[in-house]
Order: sequence, then C-alpha cells, then structure tokens
Amino acid sequence: MSSALYDGFIADYYDESPMVRGRVGDVAFYRDAVNEFGDPVLELGCGTGRITLALAEAGHPVTGLDISERMLERCNQKRARLPTEARERVHLVRGNMARFDLGEKFRLIIIPFRPMQHLLEVADQVSCLESVRKHLWADGRPTGERRGRLILDVFQTDAERMHDPAYQQEGLVAEYSMPDGRRVRIMERVMAFHRGEQRNDVEMIFYVTDARGKETRLVFAWTLRYFFRYEVEHLLARCGFRVSAVYGDFDRSPLGDGSPEMIFVAVAD
Ligand SMILES: C[S@@+](CC[C@H](N)C(=O)[O-])C[C@H]1O[C@@H](n2cnc3c(N)ncnc32)[C@H](O)[C@@H]1O
Repeated sequence: MSSALYDGFIADYYDESPMVRGRVGDVAFYRDAVNEFGDPVLELGCGTGRITLALAEAGHPVTGLDISERMLERCNQKRARLPTEARERVHLVRGNMARFDLGEKFRLIIIPFRPMQHLLEVADQVSCLESVRKHLWADGRPTGERRGRLILDVFQTDAERMHDPAYQQEGLVAEYSMPDGRRVRIMERVMAFHRGEQRNDVEMIFYVTDARGKETRLVFAWTLRYFFRYEVEHLLARCGFRVSAVYGDFDRSPLGDGSPEMIFVAVAD
C-alpha cells in the first residue's frame, strides 16, 4: 500500500488540534445513527478512532478502516486504554477505502469528517461507493432485517471562497498547547486552485515552539476535493443508493444556504 498522507507528523498533532477537539456534535450524531440503524458498523477513514472508539464505548461492534499506519497506531494506543469489553468490540484494518473487501457485512457504514474529500478521482469515489454497497446488509426480507445505511459528511462548498486569491496568504487557523507544553500555531494557505477539477492544493503549516522557545516549521501539504450537493446525490444514485436524508449540520437541521456541512444518509437500493 502506498505511503499515506497522514503517515507524517500530522498524526501526532491531530487529536489535540482545536479543529478536531471542537468537533463534538458529530460523535453524538453518529452514535444516534447507530441506535437508529443498528450495528455492526464500519467506519471508513477512521483515523485515530475519535468516532470508532466512542461507538465501541457505547456498546457497538465497530470496524475502523484507514490507509494510514500512523493514524491507526494512535487509534490502537487509545483502544488499549478502553475497558476490556469496549476494546474487544473494535476491529482495526489498514486498507484503502477506494477499494476494499472485508468479507463481512455491516448495517451501517459511515465516512465521518470528510475522508471522501481525499478521494480526488471520480473513479475512486465510485469504486469506494461500490465497495460500500457490497458490504451493506441487503434487504433482509423475509427475516425482517432492515437494509444497511451509508452516512457520509463533507463540508458545504462556498464556491467563491474556493477560488478567492485572499486565501493564498497564510491565515491563522488555530493555536493550542500540546500535553507536553509545546505551543502550536496552525496557519493555512492555498498553493494552487484547480477550479475545473474542483480541487485546491493546500498547505497547513504548523509552527511548533518548545519550552526553550525554539520554533519548528512543519508542513502538511494536501489536495482537497470539494463537492456540491447534487453531485454527491448523483454519485450516490449512480452507485445504487437512494438518498433518504440530507442534513446541513449534525443537529439534523435541513441543508440551507448557510449550512456548514452536507450530511447524506443513503440506503442501498
Ligand atoms: C480528517 S481525518 C478523519 C478521521 C476520523 N474519521 C475522524 O472523524 O476523526 C481523514 C482520515 O481519512 C484517512 N484516509 C484518507 N484517504 C484514505 C483512503 N483512501 N483510504 C482509507 N483512509 C483514508 C486518513 O488517513 C485520515 O485518517
């Protein structure tokens, strides 16, 4: 498997960053979704296990799949600190969500906090959704089983912001302290706009200052793919899904002009 974007320094700074710590509404949202749609659950792009481990603690068997060895290592370390029963409900797999075959079925497959936006090519998005479909419980009639659900979230694209030259200048994203006292300042800038491909090359620059005042500059360079609502709906339809709900935030409010998120709940038809 090729080396993954998140195998760099980012894995060590991920959990502590305010962008991740401040993101609490999605955990409750996905917990409620499992109560509604059932388990077992598969999380694609599970990262350090923020959601996977919370679902296991809530009593659900969960498989977490991620391409990054280092993110999975962090997840494993956190899993080791869970009570035995919760720990045993978690199964971690290193794999590529663009194409996977786990040989089992799930009632719910979730793709939280935008891993879909790392799949830059339509071919990969399609093969991901096709893999998801194969892993979902089918209509269980006559046993009365409900059909499996897919839930994914991406940010709602502000088209003007996506090609606004102002974002080529470094802008402050967050400042925080690591548990060992190091100060972190995250700046972000767009290095290139690829409007025709709905992608931006972005740099997140971490300025890390240690106790002696020495500053280190670390760069997380990545390409983000942005989506529009009906593109995702068409993509889902193309891959054999029916969209049963679209939300604009994790409080289940409808998707509107100012909504920060686009959250799709889909049933495999
Ligand atoms: C923003 S993080 C989200 C992590 C986690 N879902 C959460 O909510 O905190 C994106 C994750 O997607 C993973 N990822 C990116 N591309 C992937 C791929 N092709 N297959 C599997 N995981 C991938 C990254 O390694 C990273 O852990």
